[in-house]
Amino acid sequence: MNTLPESNEQYGTKDYWNQRYAQESENGSFDWFKSYGEISDIIQDLIPDRSSKILMLGCGNSKLSEEMYDDGFRNIVNIDYSAVLIEQMQQRHSRDRPDMQWHEMDVRDVTFADDTFDVVIDKGTMDAMMTVKGDIWNPPQRVIDDCTREVREAIRYISRY
Ligand SMILES: C[S@@+](CC[C@H](N)C(=O)[O-])C[C@H]1O[C@@H](n2cnc3c(N)ncnc32)[C@H](O)[C@@H]1O
Repeated sequence: MNTLPESNEQYGTKDYWNQRYAQESENGSFDWFKSYGEISDIIQDLIPDRSSKILMLGCGNSKLSEEMYDDGFRNIVNIDYSAVLIEQMQQRHSRDRPDMQWHEMDVRDVTFADDTFDVVIDKGTMDAMMTVKGDIWNPPQRVIDDCTREVREAIRYISRY
């Protein structure tokens, strides 16, 4: 099975992710960049309250959410725009991790109300939206707009203290 795209830009398309997750085994998982074991100290420092309401952006089939859940973070909502992936993750976790939620949703257009979450985590998702040809220091307007929308949404649904 070849899950690598023909070009880097395909990482920025929903079709690529749907096809990739459809090809991978139902129980497949892959953690981009770092696993929970490698960043758990940082996460626990930044999120001292295990009951915090956490939104995981572009969760993929990473084990980050399940390992955080098993470590006591029971209030995690996962979103990803791949319908194929969300269906797989719902089935995989519904029995053993019933409090964890999975929603097909775009990080640029989040349907949760203002002030819903305490914490938002993006590991590799904005990176996927930035995979374009050319000068990364002078990105196309579309990339600037996508990233701005993601951050504007986060500012809206994160609680202000
Ligand atoms: C590089 S993977 C990272 C997966 C996971 N967060 C990890 O750390 O392993 C990017 C994920 O973001 C999702 N994604 C990309 N753009 C998205 C968007 N605009 N809205 C929601 N999900 C998106 C993809 O479907 C894919 O699952």
